[in-house]
Amino acid sequence: MRDQIVAGNWKMNNDHRETEILLNALAVHSKPKDVRVMVAPSFTQLSQSIDLLKNDSIKVVAQNMNAAASGAYTGEVSAAMLKGVGVTTVVLGHSERRSLYHENNSSLSEKVKTAIAEGMEIIFCFGEQLEERKTDRHFEVVKDQLSEALFALPEAAWEHIILAYEPVWAIGTGETASPAQAQEMHAFIRSLIVERYSLSLANEIAILYGGSVKPSNAKEIFSMEDVDGGLIGGASLNAEDFMAIVNAF
Ligand code: PGA
Repeated sequence: MRDQIVAGNWKMNNDHRETEILLNALAVHSKPKDVRVMVAPSFTQLSQSIDLLKNDSIKVVAQNMNAAASGAYTGEVSAAMLKGVGVTTVVLGHSERRSLYHENNSSLSEKVKTAIAEGMEIIFCFGEQLEERKTDRHFEVVKDQLSEALFALPEAAWEHIILAYEPVWAIGTGETASPAQAQEMHAFIRSLIVERYSLSLANEIAILYGGSVKPSNAKEIFSMEDVDGGLIGGASLNAEDFMAIVNAF
């Protein structure tokens, strides 16, 4: 049985006070035993979040990291720094990192290698732009993103990886992929893993859907056979909404 996962990507939201309020509100809810729940605060709030969640099953993850171990990279954070504060999971390849900070499949493959060498777990994000879907190139784009960033890895390295398919046109837009569109792409992703690796790996890998997941649509999306949970942006900033999504399996 694959992991069921709901991860909240806070993006550049929640300062010290807001983090305390939101995490305290999440902490009072009981969590389903069979769902891994994660939140990704800003770097500055990681230690605080770990401290506030020390008696809770919610895991704190980072939104990004640098591929290098240390050095002249002003403004950047290394894997060792994350591990030093107790963070062992990192989101890589979010579409905002790709579009605003010029990350690409090649630079992401370096980050992935470092994260794996450091023993970290990765939530690897990818997905097509609206134009690519409209011109029916979404399968090709997703195939390229996965092949170029991940398919050079040996099969054993995949125990570190969670995939998050996030069609860019559905992120923060209120427009969600239909459950059928999500299922179709997730099944395609599994078929790529069968082709490159093995059926057993394809069956084990958790594939999350992200893009305007809300309490009102989570149940239907999570009920799809190849959807193992969600990466949640906007709705993760509200405790009631986030917990409703966590409980939507
Ligand atoms: P959204 O963001 O839920 O606000 O669409 C998802 C994401 O960016 O991971």
